[in-house]
Amino acid sequence: MQCADEWSCISETGCDCTPFSSWAAVCTLAHILADTMTDSQTDGAAAESPMEFYEKVTAQGEAVRELKTGKAPKEEIDVAVKLLLQLKLDYKRVSGQDYKAGWPPTDSPASGESVPAAAEDGDDLVDPWTVATSNAKGVDYEKLIVRFGSSKIEAELIERMERVTGQKAHRFLRRGIFFSHRRVQQPCPSALDMHQILDAYENKKSFYLYTGRGPSSEAMHMGHLIPFIFTKWLQDVFDIPLVIQLTDDEKYLWKDLTLEDCHRYAVENAKDIIACGFDVNKTFIFSDLDYMGMSSGFYRNVVKIQKHVTFNQVKGIFGFTDSECIGKISFPAIQAAPSFSTSFPQIFNGRKDIQCLIPCAIDQDPYFRMTRDVAPRIGYPKPALLHSTFFPALQGAQTKMSASDPNSSIFLTDTAKQIKNKINKHAFSGGRDTVEEHRKHGGDADVDVSFMYLTFFLEDDEKLEQIRQDYTSGALLTGELKKCLIETLQPMITQHQERRKQVTDETVKQFMTPRKLDFHF
Ligand code: TYM
Repeated sequence: MQCADEWSCISETGCDCTPFSSWAAVCTLAHILADTMTDSQTDGAAAESPMEFYEKVTAQGEAVRELKTGKAPKEEIDVAVKLLLQLKLDYKRVSGQDYKAGWPPTDSPASGESVPAAAEDGDDLVDPWTVATSNAKGVDYEKLIVRFGSSKIEAELIERMERVTGQKAHRFLRRGIFFSHRRVQQPCPSALDMHQILDAYENKKSFYLYTGRGPSSEAMHMGHLIPFIFTKWLQDVFDIPLVIQLTDDEKYLWKDLTLEDCHRYAVENAKDIIACGFDVNKTFIFSDLDYMGMSSGFYRNVVKIQKHVTFNQVKGIFGFTDSECIGKISFPAIQAAPSFSTSFPQIFNGRKDIQCLIPCAIDQDPYFRMTRDVAPRIGYPKPALLHSTFFPALQGAQTKMSASDPNSSIFLTDTAKQIKNKINKHAFSGGRDTVEEHRKHGGDADVDVSFMYLTFFLEDDEKLEQIRQDYTSGALLTGELKKCLIETLQPMITQHQERRKQVTDETVKQFMTPRKLDFHF
């Protein structure tokens, strides 16, 4: 019998191909085929996910077809067919589905780390676009870690960090604001991100930092400062290169903005980022719109990633629908690419083995779950992640501070008076309705936004604890707590604005010019 599609009709039962002859030959052929397959296979990674098996079956099917078309010896074709059958069986085992050419696995749109456990009714909503919970105390991060498959930063890790670096841990670590991390390579409990990073530091092995900003408006808000403040601290402590991506392309695709506006916002935001104190000799800031065409490495990595992630997978990870523009569908590859050192040949001299560490709030995690799944298939190390909690909206911790809701935010451009008014008017209070009741029963610091903001920005641990106790006992009133917050934020933001004023166009140009940094690779 001659099939219409000779290889795709092959199954364990319904095929008239000659039976299997030699396993040794299968193995030999498998090696030969591996050499001619896609990047993922030549990189030597074992196929584990349904999608990887699907791709292997497809590639093997094509190989069989070529052997037949080229009238290869019968034994060679037999061996190839046997391998194809084995791969189909493996595919069925991992996906629960029969292989069908042109139909990637449907029930498991994404694989490996990419897919968090399914959200259940009542679970908090956390993705790059929305953060929402019904709990006034904010997102349940303990539960989120379990769902996202990351790991809590334990006290023991913080102690080790202090020991290794000789520095007191940043308040964001001491207070659980940076609270979660992801494994670097092996799924072994002792190989958690920060432990491996600290090993690397102790062994004088290089790594680099990568973080970013989506420039959707001229002004950044206080929530955006969190990853940059922490990244600056990491750069000072570890003395390593830093790359900062400004995704002006992303904001053009998602928002009703012109390309020119997005690019202009990128440059304006770069000024705020520079004002956080980054060292120009150790930091490269880039706009996607500019750097994509300038770099010999960045776009190559984008394309490699695009080749190894299907539409089905990004739908599963990001919830994209069929009516989304194709720019959005392929954008995750652009945010993933800076996680690989070959995207910056001018800094890393073409080396592909430099480990990347990404500090960000946990809303960005879907991008990097995808990145970590792809990394071994294109021959790169997986990036390590450090996740922060969200700086809450003024109205309460049910959602994060967000630029798309100006009333929820204190902007870095706000005047001292605006800061005072916003806090007095909008900051959700955990205090009681009357002074008498407050004195009698005390306030609830766990839902009080002013207290939450102080945990992010008041450096003095003892003072913070005293405020908590006084507020909880009723000795400190809401107005007094707000005054304390206002007095903490006003000088901080004024100083930021003064530093920003010093950032000239020439300084921005220096940071944003692709160049070698003060490190030798
Ligand atoms: P964007 O501009 O939404 O946010 C920039 C960074 O700020 C964090 N963030 C917050 N952190 C704490 N509390 C908040 N309320 C809050 N709001 C935002 C974000 O997690 C992010 O770290 N697509 C990205 C830009 C990007 C990026 C990256 C971010 C490109 N590459 C690598 C982190 C790491 C975006 O639109 O971020």
